[in-house]
Amino acid sequence: MTKQAEQEPIVGVIMGSDSDLKTMKPASDILHLFGVPHEVRVKSAHRTPEMMAEYGRTALDRGIKVIIAGAGGSAHLPGMVASETRLPVLGVAIESSADVTNAALGSMIRMPKGIPLATMGKGEAAAANAGLEAVRILALSDDQLGQAYENYVERMAAEVMAKDQRLVELGVDTYLQQM
Ligand code: RP5
Repeated sequence: MTKQAEQEPIVGVIMGSDSDLKTMKPASDILHLFGVPHEVRVKSAHRTPEMMAEYGRTALDRGIKVIIAGAGGSAHLPGMVASETRLPVLGVAIESSADVTNAALGSMIRMPKGIPLATMGKGEAAAANAGLEAVRILALSDDQLGQAYENYVERMAAEVMAKDQRLVELGVDTYLQQM
């Protein structure tokens, strides 16, 4: 068991099915990178509605500060969990066929007024961004985490600048050959 796993989780990464795990893993990877204790759980809005509701109702008291919720299909999990808690909930649509993905995304972005659901988008990039957004929220009350996030952004910018410089030096054809 890792040190992070031994600590009480402050972020809950939940998803409707274990078939969502590959898409949602980048959220967990980002939280690992920043040393944020978190848990990864399967809570289906359709197959285990009571368990899902219980998760949302008890999350705050268990010390969870942000919930990242991924779902595909009709994707009720993120919105339903948001209705069971006052914690910020970040929704991620699981990518499958274009129709189904858009339906999942549509389910999240059409939350009726009154219960907000921050929707990150679809697929693995959205899951990674959900992890980063959780870090940004937690960093509001954790300067060390805020500094780690700023360092992350600086490293990313430095990588882009290095690539730009290399492109200028090598030219398009050689750069592409070496990619
Ligand atoms: C949703 O239904 C899940 O989030 C998943 O994306 C989709 C399909 O689930 P499985 O049939 O693969 O378990 O609830």
